[in-house]
Parts: sequence; C-alpha cells; structure tokens
Amino acid sequence: STLSQDDLKTLVGHAALKYVVLGEVVGVGTGSTVNKFIDALATIKEQIKGAVSSSNASTERLKALGIPVFDSNEVDELAVYIDGADEIDRQGFMIKGGGAALTREKIIASQSKQFVCIADESKLVTTLGRFPLPVEVIPMAAQRIIRQFRAMGGEAQIRLRDGQPLVTDNGQHIVDVTGLQITDPLKFETQVSQWPGVVTVGVFAFQKAHVCLLGTAQGVQTLT
Ligand code: A5P
Repeated sequence: STLSQDDLKTLVGHAALKYVVLGEVVGVGTGSTVNKFIDALATIKEQIKGAVSSSNASTERLKALGIPVFDSNEVDELAVYIDGADEIDRQGFMIKGGGAALTREKIIASQSKQFVCIADESKLVTTLGRFPLPVEVIPMAAQRIIRQFRAMGGEAQIRLRDGQPLVTDNGQHIVDVTGLQITDPLKFETQVSQWPGVVTVGVFAFQKAHVCLLGTAQGVQTLT
C-alpha cells in the first residue's frame, strides 16, 4: 500500500506521543502535521497537565479538544516541545515559519529541554534554503531588511494575505526570502537576528531539533 503525505503526517503525529511526559505541560507547535499530533494528544489528555501553544490556531484546536492551554509565562521549563518544520537537515537545523508562527515557536523551543520535530520526508534537505525563508519583521524596517537580503544574493518580499501584508499573531509582518543557500545556519541566525527590526529569523539553529520523527514510505524513521 502507498502512504499519502497526509498518512505520513498522521503517522509521525502519533509517534510523537511517546515523547510526551505524563503529568506535565507539553509544548505544541503549529501546522498540518502538528494538528495530527494534537488529535493524538487528545486521546491521552487526562494524563497530561496541558499544553503551551505556539499559535492562536493551535490554541483553538487544543481547547476544542478539551486540552488546557497555559501561557508560556505560567510555566517554567518544558520537558518537550513538539513541532513541524518547513525544512530540516540531518543535523536538526530547520527552516520554520511557513505558518507565520515562528516567533512564538522559537520562544517555546527555547524554554524546552527537548525539541522533537515531526515531518514527512519531503522536508528533509541537505542544505537549508530551498523553502522561502520566513523572517518576522517590524513593519517600518521591512524595506531595509529586503535590501539587506538582496545584498546577500537573495530575493525577498513581504508576505501578503488577500492583497494586504499578512499580520502575525504579534502584530508584525513576514518577509519571505528565496535564493539563499544557508550553509552555516548558526552563523546565519546570529547575523540576521542582529539586524534592526528583525523580530525572528526562521532559521532554527540555536533551537534545533534534538530528535526528528520523519515519516517515510517505510514508516517512521527516527533521526537524532
Ligand atoms: C509554522 O510557522 C511552521 O514553522 C510549521 O512548523 C511548518 O509550516 C510546518 O507545517 P506543516 O506541518 O503544515 O508542513
């Protein structure tokens, strides 16, 4: 039998359950793969304290399934954060933010001991940069930041929704950058994070995945 991409997402969403620490609050990311995890999490909701969520969309889904959602300021360190990615390499470095939730994702990842990435095999790359890199920016700095990416050899544009700049959960804009080969993710994240007006760059190198559950035609592959 052949597994669809949706099947692979369901597979890894369920596989992530074994990383959830019972009795504790679990960090929950955003996206179609995480939605499968949230559905799986609902089956053990009596055994966990609740979740911290990286987006309004995930918060709504968690609450609709009866899982308590805490503010990240209400909890100290989380044992585990489970989230998808737009790209991941074999070292666990990722591009994230396709769902525009990158800032909250990076914050929750940074307060978690372990990042478990769930993804279908189409997300695995050798070098980050094929997927347009999301960067959350303060609107007044957008054009300056776009010019800085051009100077690096990339092409950048403000993400639109219904013809208007998309506004993030944090009230900011997203710039998507194409044409980059991010060969040194730690250096790239360090550099771009320092540009004035950059809220969050979608390279997750300092907050990389410790484990990746990769959905493949042969089943779930665990990369560590
Ligand atoms: C959200 O901002 C992203 O970082 C998501 O983790 C990413 O887009 C993965 O989403 P899918 O699981 O829908 O591919």
